Amino acid sequence: MRELIRRRRSCRSFDGRALEAQVLEGLERYAAGVAAPFGSRLRFGVIDNEKVRAENLFSAGSYGMIKGARYYLAALVPRDEPRRWEDAGFVLEAVVLHAAGLGLGTCWIGGVFDRKRFGRVLGIRADEQLPAVVALGRPADKRSLRDRLVRWSARGDRRKPVDDLFFAGRWNSPMAMEGAGQWAQVLESVRLAPSASNRQPWRIVRLGSDFHFYLARDRTYSAMMPLADLQRIDLGIAMCHFQFSAFEAGLDGKWRDQDPRVSGTPANYEYIVSFTIG
Ligand SMILES: Cc1cc2nc3c(=O)[nH]c(=O)nc-3n(C[C@H](O)[C@H](O)[C@H](O)COP(=O)(O)O)c2cc1C
Repeated sequence: MRELIRRRRSCRSFDGRALEAQVLEGLERYAAGVAAPFGSRLRFGVIDNEKVRAENLFSAGSYGMIKGARYYLAALVPRDEPRRWEDAGFVLEAVVLHAAGLGLGTCWIGGVFDRKRFGRVLGIRADEQLPAVVALGRPADKRSLRDRLVRWSARGDRRKPVDDLFFAGRWNSPMAMEGAGQWAQVLESVRLAPSASNRQPWRIVRLGSDFHFYLARDRTYSAMMPLADLQRIDLGIAMCHFQFSAFEAGLDGKWRDQDPRVSGTPANYEYIVSFTIG
């Protein structure tokens, strides 16, 4: 998992070709088996753009900044599930990593896509929402110019330094990675996670055997994207990377909702969840 996390990058140039039915079925089966940490009832679906195009629902070929993507993974979530964003982020990211292990390319799409049409194709119900989709396919041999431009403008290769993300006990005390043992690797897996516009809104404070996850909310960004809480999806993705890396390293623990009310928490920080070791 940690190796896959290190290797994964958003792919925005696909070869446009079909994937084998057993690969798609395997992804659906895998998704159905991932336990959402907050227990939301998710419905998972794969859209084949070719089939949809035959029904004249999509424009041909590429979609937005993504070139040649034929498949889209989606998770539909009931509107009344309070933790639907985090759970959708967690489960879809698990599928993204699984797909990476199969040599497939993926790219999260949360901003500009036709939610109505994708929803219709997936048979979305009135009580459901479509938080985001993930473009899926085999990477093209050559990356398109658009691909390189988007990656460059999102600074997709860059990540914030650990001192800006992980803290020990207090917000003004960066966590020392040297003394963190195997947890340093686990946190590095969080740091490498994809996030909407590469904003990296995850913050973690360690207090004893608890890792407390916070969302450093960018309110302007959230206001620009009213249809989905992309930043809470980011936190679900971070939880996925944290849990998978920890369990792989034999580090055990549980997710719990226990706000530690760390003093001096900035006003735009939202407590999300805690991971308790043991
Ligand atoms: C919730 C979410 C939504 C995203 N939406 C888009 C999108 O609409 N279009 C796009 O090109 N990339 C999108 N991305 C991909 C990010 O820009 C990308 O993950 C980030 O720049 C880091 O680059 P990397 O994935 O290559 O490591 C999204 C990522 C996440 C997690």
